[in-house]
Amino acid sequence: MKFFIDTANLEQIEEARDLGILDGVTTNPSLMAKEGITGDENIKNHYKKICELVDGDISAEVIATDFDEMIKEGKALADIHENIVVKAPMTKDGVKAIRWFTDHDIRTNCTLVFSAGQAILAAKAGATYLSPFIGRIDDMNWDGIELIAQIADIYTVQGFATEILAASIRNPLHIVRAAEAGADVCTCPLSSILGLLKHPLTDIGLAKFLADHKKANS
Ligand code: E4P
Repeated sequence: MKFFIDTANLEQIEEARDLGILDGVTTNPSLMAKEGITGDENIKNHYKKICELVDGDISAEVIATDFDEMIKEGKALADIHENIVVKAPMTKDGVKAIRWFTDHDIRTNCTLVFSAGQAILAAKAGATYLSPFIGRIDDMNWDGIELIAQIADIYTVQGFATEILAASIRNPLHIVRAAEAGADVCTCPLSSILGLLKHPLTDIGLAKFLADHKKANS
C-alpha cells in the first residue's frame, strides 16, 4: 500500500518525507485555504514547491465545476510538473473531464466518492485514483471501511485498473483497516501517520532495555 500525506503544509510534508515512507501528497481547496495559499499564481507556485519536496504523485484539485473550465484548469495544473495528478469531483462534468484527461494522457484522482456506483463510473472513465472519503462516511453513521472493501471486490472482479485511495482518514486505525480492506493508497494527516508508531509496550520495552544497559555498564 502507498502512503500519501493529506495536507498542503510544507513542514508536515517534509516531516513525513523524512520518515522515508512517503509516496505522494494530496491536497484540496480547503487544505490550500488553510495554509493561506490564494490566487492562481501562488497556488501554482505552492504546487511547484510540493513537487520539489516529494518525488511522487501530487494531487491538485480543479475548482471549476463545468466541463470546459475543468479541462482548462486541469491542463494548466498538469503542466506544472509531470507528477501532478488532476483531481476532479464525482459529478457528471467531472466524469466527462476524467474521460477527457484519460484520453489525453493526464492522470486523475476522482474525489468526493461515497458509493460503489460512483466508484464504477470513475473506473469506467479511466480514473487513475479513486478517493472514497471514509471519515466523512463514518461521520454519517455509515461504515467507510465497508465501502473500501466493497469497491476493492468490484475492482478485482471486474479487472478495473483504478487505484483505491482511501481519503478522509481521521486516525491510525483507519489506515490499518483500509489496508486490510484492500485500499491501494491511504492519504493521511501527519498525526495519523505518526499515530501508527505508538504502542505503550514499545515505550516500556525501550525504557527497560536502556535501564538494563545502563546498570550493566556503570
Ligand atoms: C483528500 O484527497 C481529501 O480531500 C481529504 O482526505 C478529505 O478529508 P476530510 O474529510 O478530513 O476533509
